[in-house]
Amino acid sequence: MSSRTEDLSVTIVHVNKCLQEFDRRRQNLVLLGAAKEAFSMDFSNSFTYTALLLLISLISFKFLSAKLRQKQRKNKYHPVAGTFVNQLLNFKRLHHYMTDLAAKYRTYRLLSPFRNEIYTSDPANVEYILKTNFNNYGKGEYNHSLLRDLLGEGIFTVDGDKWREQRKVSSYEFSTKVLRDFSSVVFRKNVARLANIVSEAANSNETMDMQDLFLKSTLDSIFKVAFGVELDSMCGSNEKGKEFAAAFDDSSALTLYRYVDPFWKIKRYLNIGSEAALKRNIKVVDNFVYKLIHNKIEQLRDSKDDSAVIKKEDILTRFLEVTDTDPKYLRDIILNFIIAGKDTTAASLSWFIYMLCKHPDVQEKVAAEVKEATKSMEVKDVAVFAAGLSEEALGKMHYLHAAITETLRLYPAVPVDAKVCLADDTLPDGFSARKGDMIAYQPYAMGRMKFIWGDNAEEFRPERWLDKNGMFQPENPFKFTAFQAGPRICLGKEFAYRQMKIFSAVLLRCFVFKLSDENRTVTYRTMINLHIDGGLHVCAFHRCQT
Ligand code: HEM
Repeated sequence: MSSRTEDLSVTIVHVNKCLQEFDRRRQNLVLLGAAKEAFSMDFSNSFTYTALLLLISLISFKFLSAKLRQKQRKNKYHPVAGTFVNQLLNFKRLHHYMTDLAAKYRTYRLLSPFRNEIYTSDPANVEYILKTNFNNYGKGEYNHSLLRDLLGEGIFTVDGDKWREQRKVSSYEFSTKVLRDFSSVVFRKNVARLANIVSEAANSNETMDMQDLFLKSTLDSIFKVAFGVELDSMCGSNEKGKEFAAAFDDSSALTLYRYVDPFWKIKRYLNIGSEAALKRNIKVVDNFVYKLIHNKIEQLRDSKDDSAVIKKEDILTRFLEVTDTDPKYLRDIILNFIIAGKDTTAASLSWFIYMLCKHPDVQEKVAAEVKEATKSMEVKDVAVFAAGLSEEALGKMHYLHAAITETLRLYPAVPVDAKVCLADDTLPDGFSARKGDMIAYQPYAMGRMKFIWGDNAEEFRPERWLDKNGMFQPENPFKFTAFQAGPRICLGKEFAYRQMKIFSAVLLRCFVFKLSDENRTVTYRTMINLHIDGGLHVCAFHRCQT
């Protein structure tokens, strides 16, 4: 029943009760023989009685319609800008479609058969749902049901105590020096491997798909940090690892498809189409991950028996220390970290190189800054240069930090992020959200809004992040939403920046990148993360040779 109909029935019941009460009192008064004294009107006169009833009905009607009008005024809903069919028809260019709508309406609704969908790019609304009334906007059962098959009960899919518990342990682990130092060593080693491949391509004038290389390299990095295992997808020596990575990517795309496919549950039940493919891919992912977990548990058990010292640097080992060893729980936690750490960083690095190819002046400025911050007149050995890249030097690279952030503003790795409204509410713009509504903030659309970034919103301008002394200045996180904001802000933000800065500093210090085909249209593939469709094909040149 709609809330308006509910109100109507409540008021009718109320009016009826009043009339009944009125009638009861009248009878009492007659019975007491005090009717005429108590009431100056003659109730035995049916005409008067009918007139009174009419009067009450009229007053009740007026009261009722005033209340309805007031309710309508109170519960105004955001304009409807389209339906889920428009989303399906625009699936390939979904973020363009949503950006065009955001330019028309800061917050709008798309009609869907099963729920009300609200999309906002209004920073005030974003702050409200992500922070001010955080407890009322969660993943909800809706997101949980869509994501559960791939991400289980991991931090991305749950709310409440389940979320709080994982957030607490993970935040602690992510802030430890052990994990920080371990991950930096891993990043430096992996970028040196990547630089060798780029160097070979440069020597032989071959083009390469940088996105593919970043995906492999960041997968190797997060795998090492998460499991303590060398996956080596970069050199392709591990066939099973390759299979896992492909299955994980396809699972991610097929999971996102559920958001626009109203028939996914039926398809899953019948095990057909996209759902059958998702099931197959998740099986590949699970087999691979469970094997790793069992190996690690055995390794730890053996090390205890042998009293051998085992380095407790990776996330899995650290979780095994503080939580139980239920493989399903560990699978969920680790897979969530992998999806968080692999695709987001690789996609962001790819868009970053793309932006630098489109803006060679920015590429040169970044390279000059790296050279100055590292005081490296010449790089003879990439691995040595990477290994010597200190935290201090990275901290001095404000322009690089700004250029990466500017890339994330225009190409946020998570382009749309949906929450569920858990109880009826009114947003700061005065419009209402109802319990069960989906409400999404849109980093992709927000990064392109003139009302947030000014008339040059669509321009790539790292300088907008720098003060007059060239120091990086963070923006309001409810405007720059690439990492989300509030209590659920990205847990790996610092980790991601460190990896992106280490990778960029090494690659840009050693090479110049150019698009292999300037005329080829570069756009995204619609999936959970914003990947470049078909990869990023570039040529690299040794910097000292240019
Ligand atoms: C450029 C890189 C990255 C971007 C743009 C990014 C962005 C985001 C965003 C938008 C969210 C919110 C998603 C949601 O609503 O569930 C998020 C959450 C999260 N991110 Fe990142 N992320 C990045 C890298 C990483 C890395 C490298 C890690 C860890 C290795 C990480 C770990 C997490 C975790 C654990 C959460 C869940 C936080 C929670 O729900 O409490 N992220 N990230």
